[in-house]
Amino acid sequence: MKALVLIGGFGTRLRPVTYSVPKQLIPIAGKPMLYHVLDLLPPDVEEVVLATGYKADLIDAYVRAHPPRWPVRTVPEAEPLGTGGGMRNAGDGMSDPFFLLNSDVIAAADLSALARRQSTTGGIGAMALAEVDDTRPYGVAALAEDDRITGFVEKPEPEAAPSHWINAGLAVWRREVLDRIPDGRPSSFEQEVVPYLLDRGLYGFRLFGFWDDAGTPDRLLRSQRLLFDAGRGGKGGLPPGASGNGPVATMSGATAQGASFGKYVTLGPGAVVEPGAHVENSVLMDGVRVEREAVVAGSILGPQSRVRAGRRISGQVLGERAEG
Ligand code: GDD
Ligand code: MG
Repeated sequence: MKALVLIGGFGTRLRPVTYSVPKQLIPIAGKPMLYHVLDLLPPDVEEVVLATGYKADLIDAYVRAHPPRWPVRTVPEAEPLGTGGGMRNAGDGMSDPFFLLNSDVIAAADLSALARRQSTTGGIGAMALAEVDDTRPYGVAALAEDDRITGFVEKPEPEAAPSHWINAGLAVWRREVLDRIPDGRPSSFEQEVVPYLLDRGLYGFRLFGFWDDAGTPDRLLRSQRLLFDAGRGGKGGLPPGASGNGPVATMSGATAQGASFGKYVTLGPGAVVEPGAHVENSVLMDGVRVEREAVVAGSILGPQSRVRAGRRISGQVLGERAEG
């Protein structure tokens, strides 16, 4: 099987960081969001096709520099085509069936079992479903007793949500769905296509481990906590000379001699935390500098941004080269 991964979209909910970096390359628990999704793919996947758009060149450069275990091909869109248009644009040569992955979700999910769910039911697809309290940001499924999906509503008002089981952004589809997507114009796969395929047999595959969509600042930090708690925070730990219990994921060249850490921190490549500074529950991207005695909590610090000596910042998102 091949996999089609949706990596367009502007990441508006993660601005200002996403003015310079596509959200999929923001590191959480030690590696870019995108790589946590790819990790879910079975080892025998034949090819991964990345449907890119916004900042496609940066994604392309990153995957070349850090090749995943599968052959990867990127198919950029000249203009954003939405999830449907992006699938159609990148769908040439897809396997039948194929995996469809959103690039901003983290999960404990057995995608081989998901693929078996599609093949044993013989339906047009199988969709991983996560149970959430607040369904408003998601696509929500109505389920029959055998977990066949009988209704699908994208981002409904709470009173219109048929259940608490939502599209987890991980699915297996027969190739023919690509022909059902309008050609040559942007479209939403979830709104314009999925509801009209249900009579062909779409089956739910309930996830019972952790799941989240890391597309907003709060959810990104929550995703990082979930990944660390699940032991997916990479091999590293505290950088040499730092104190605290972690978990901390230290990426290449990051230093923090004499600094202290609370739980759940990613120190991006080349980030520097100076002596006496303290960081917790945060993501520091490449080249960030947290100066002496500063305190950073619950924040996402964009590349090369800087927190001045003695400052305390909490719940902030700083763009590239910003000062906090
Ligand atoms: N190629 C391409 N082109 N990809 C796109 C585009 C586009 O124009 N717009 C968005 N994407 C990608 C995003 O990068 C993301 O991986 C995926 O498509 C979904 O887009 P989001 O913007 O993150 O959508 P969402 O989170 O509001 O909703 C989607 O994900 C939920 C689960 O996290 C839907 O699929 C919901 O049904 C689902 O519940
Ligand atoms: Mg999303």
